[in-house]
Amino acid sequence: MALRRDRTHTETRTKRPRSEAPAYPEHHTAPAYPEHPAAQGYSAGFQPPAPAAVELRSVVRTYGRGSNTVHALRGIDLSLPRGGFTAVMGPSGSGKSTFLQCAAGLDRPTSGDVLLGGESIARLREDRLTELRRSRIGFVFQSFNLLPSLTVAQNVLLPQRLAGVRQDRALAQQLLTEVGLPAHGDRRPGQLSGGQQQRVAIARALITRPEVVFADEPTGALDTQAAQEVLALLRRAVDSLGATVVMVTHDPVAASHADRVLFLADGALAGELHRPDPQSVAARMADLATARSFAGVAA
Ligand SMILES: Nc1ncnc2c1ncn2[C@@H]1O[C@H](COP(=O)(O)OP(=O)(O)OP(=O)(O)O)[C@@H](O)[C@H]1O
Ligand SMILES: [Mg+2]
Repeated sequence: MALRRDRTHTETRTKRPRSEAPAYPEHHTAPAYPEHPAAQGYSAGFQPPAPAAVELRSVVRTYGRGSNTVHALRGIDLSLPRGGFTAVMGPSGSGKSTFLQCAAGLDRPTSGDVLLGGESIARLREDRLTELRRSRIGFVFQSFNLLPSLTVAQNVLLPQRLAGVRQDRALAQQLLTEVGLPAHGDRRPGQLSGGQQQRVAIARALITRPEVVFADEPTGALDTQAAQEVLALLRRAVDSLGATVVMVTHDPVAASHADRVLFLADGALAGELHRPDPQSVAARMADLATARSFAGVAA
C-alpha cells in the first residue's frame, strides 16, 4: 500500500506538466551557466516569484543643498523580475544613470531602500557593499572600461581576482567563445574594435555569474552592427544564461530588445511598455519630450 502510494507520488511528480514546474530556483546567487532553468521558465511566460532581483522602495536621490538642490530621483518604487531584461529610457537629465547607480549599489539613495535578491543594500557598510558589488553584480559601461595593460582573458577574470576567488579560466574561455571572441584571449583591449571590446566587457560582467547585470548605454559608442551584436548578447545572457539585465539607453531600437521599458521623466517614473517595439518606444519618448517642453514653457 505504502509502495503504491509512493509510486503514485512519483508518477504524479514525473507527469507534472512542464508548465507547472517552478520557473525559478529558490536562490539565484549562482545561476547554472550556460543553461539556466530560469531562462526557460521566463521564456515560457512565467511571472517570477518574490523576491525580485532588484527592488527600489521610495528611492530619493538629491544632489546639493538649499536653492542648489537637484532632485535627481524623486521617490522611485519599482520591482525588477529575475531573469528579465529591462530597459530604462528618458530624456537627458531625467535620472537614468542615477537610478542605475543607486540600484547597483554604486551610489547611495538620500532616502529609501534598495533590495538585491530581497536583501537591503542601501545602508550596508562600504566594505560589505564593495564585496556585494564584486560578487553579485555585473557592470557594462558605455566606454567599455577594460584595463589596457591586461590581456583580454585577464580582463574577463578581473572581477574574480578582485573578489579573491579562484580564477576560472575555463569559464572565461567559454564566455569569450559565447561572445564570439574565442581566439582573442591573449590580445590587449587596444588591439580590438569597439564592438569587440564591449563584447569582452559583457564576458567580464558575466564571469561571477551575477544576479543582475547593469548596463549604462552599452551601445552608445558603437555603430549599428556592433550595437546589434551587443544587444543580441545581452538578450542571450537573459534567455540562455538566466541573467537579469537592466540597461539604460537612448535608442528605441536597443530598448526594443528588452522585455519591458521603464520611462523616467524629471526623476520620476513616467510609464512603462511591455514587449516594446521601436516605434512605440520612440512615440513614448516623443510624448515625454513634448511634455517637457510644455512644462518648460509653463514654468
Ligand atoms: N554628481 C552630481 N552632482 C550634482 N548633480 C548631479 C550629479 N549627478 C547627476 N546630477 C544631476 O542629476 C540629474 C540626473 O542626472 P543623471 O545623470 O541621472 O541623468 P541621465 O538621465 O542619466 O542623463 P543622460 O541621458 O544625459 O545621461 C541631472 O539634473 C544631473 O545634472
Ligand atoms: Mg546618464
